[in-house]
Amino acid sequence: MFIAKEIQTAAYLFASILFILSLGGLSSQESAKRGVLYGIVGMIVAIIATVLGEGVSGQVYIIVAIAIASAIGLMLARKVEMTAMPQLVAILHSFVGLAAVLVGFGSYLDPHTHTLTGAAHSIHLWEVFIGVFIGAITFTGSIIAWGKLEGKVRSKALMYPGRHAVNIVLMITCVVLGVLYAQQEGTGGMLHLGIMTAIACFIGIMLVMAIGGGDMPVVVSMLNSYSGWAASAAGFMLGNDLLIVTGALVGSSGAILSIHMCHAMNRSFFSVILGGFGNAPASKGEAKVIEGEVTALNHEEVAGLLKEAKSVVIVPGYGMAVAKAQYPIYDMVQYMRKAGKNVRFAIHPVAGRLPGHMNVLLAEANVPYDIVMEMDEINDDMPDTDVVMVIGANDVVNPSAKDDPASSIYGMPVIEAWKAEKVIIMKRSMSAGYSGEDNPLFYKSNSEMLYGDAKDSVEKILSFLKA
Ligand code: TAP
Repeated sequence: MFIAKEIQTAAYLFASILFILSLGGLSSQESAKRGVLYGIVGMIVAIIATVLGEGVSGQVYIIVAIAIASAIGLMLARKVEMTAMPQLVAILHSFVGLAAVLVGFGSYLDPHTHTLTGAAHSIHLWEVFIGVFIGAITFTGSIIAWGKLEGKVRSKALMYPGRHAVNIVLMITCVVLGVLYAQQEGTGGMLHLGIMTAIACFIGIMLVMAIGGGDMPVVVSMLNSYSGWAASAAGFMLGNDLLIVTGALVGSSGAILSIHMCHAMNRSFFSVILGGFGNAPASKGEAKVIEGEVTALNHEEVAGLLKEAKSVVIVPGYGMAVAKAQYPIYDMVQYMRKAGKNVRFAIHPVAGRLPGHMNVLLAEANVPYDIVMEMDEINDDMPDTDVVMVIGANDVVNPSAKDDPASSIYGMPVIEAWKAEKVIIMKRSMSAGYSGEDNPLFYKSNSEMLYGDAKDSVEKILSFLKA
């Protein structure tokens, strides 16, 4: 059973509108669920309209493949921990890249496309070439990003002398290969296409390897954007308007998110997307010597400080996600707010491992949005705060970002926890955060460590508060 072309076009238009509504919905926590729902319905409409479209054969195989893939997707989604979500997103981006490469090769080998003539033929050849190029970069870049997030590839930026010159030579080689490939008859350009794919795979690896741990948030959103453009390129190759629109939506929203992330981290967008091109040298002089002594409190002493405090700010980080501490934290916050204290959360834009990671976890625990403050909203209040509780955060409260030009995170805006009267840092050890930089905050005279798993510590503090 096939549907008429007009019905398919109408269905595609309807799905496009749903995708736009979906992105709009995702812009705020209140409407996010609705946004996801629009996305799901849009995707179902898109798949049905495509599978039943004219000229599509072997529906049975397609449906079996969709069923198997859906079962795997469902299993993975149920199993994956919130802390492993960024890795999952990164690996899914690599699938989009690989799909664009395969569609490109398939489209090049498809005898139908060689019946095209003149400008239409040239345009198609370049669609394939550019689509495969973007797809291959997305494919390998995403695998490296997955490795870095999973801790399988070292997170430090890999820099080697002359790498910019190497990148430029590789890009020029790809352009030359493209020109030669476009001049070949039939499928005579396979070798050129293959060599270019290998080079693009290498560029993808080096692009992400060159980006240091602290800048990974931008890479995740940037690869999201690349995967969108790769899908869009696949849409051009297949002549599928909906794929072009959807890819462009993902590509442009990913690019906007990357710009926001760069802004939040005070990094140049172009330097990051070009794989650290124009980055400041890794180190500007000697690293500052950390002065001071590390002191620690126990749970009862921390509860005592909180009982005295009138204003408390909680700075959550990746450790809160690892410990799944958001639920007891909110119990503790509710208890303190009932006791008349001003308790708020301070959220750094790149806290955790995923854009909006902390907001998602706090929303999951039903924390009301009006006590969840952005870094810029709350930094000015720090000097008037009695106690700051840093719960499983590290890089986002590191003062080196402000005052140590030798630090790899220098220049990134941070939550200025050290300006409060007392800072309690809850983590399991003295180990560094994702960037690998030591944190002088732990050594300040107004700082106290509280060692242990964040969830366990919060539960103990709450029991002392109630005692
Ligand atoms: P981090 O700097 O990574 O610090 C997290 C801290 O949590 C660690 O120092 C760790 O110390 C502690 N921790 C881990 N498990 C814990 C547990 N069960 N209980 C208590 N503490 C625990 O995190 P952050 O401050 O949120 O900063 C985020 C970093 O990740 C930034 O450098 C950012 O650039 C990078 N990053 C962000 C993203 C996005 S999109 N947000 C993506 C990739 C990378 P112990 O081991 O001593 O406990």
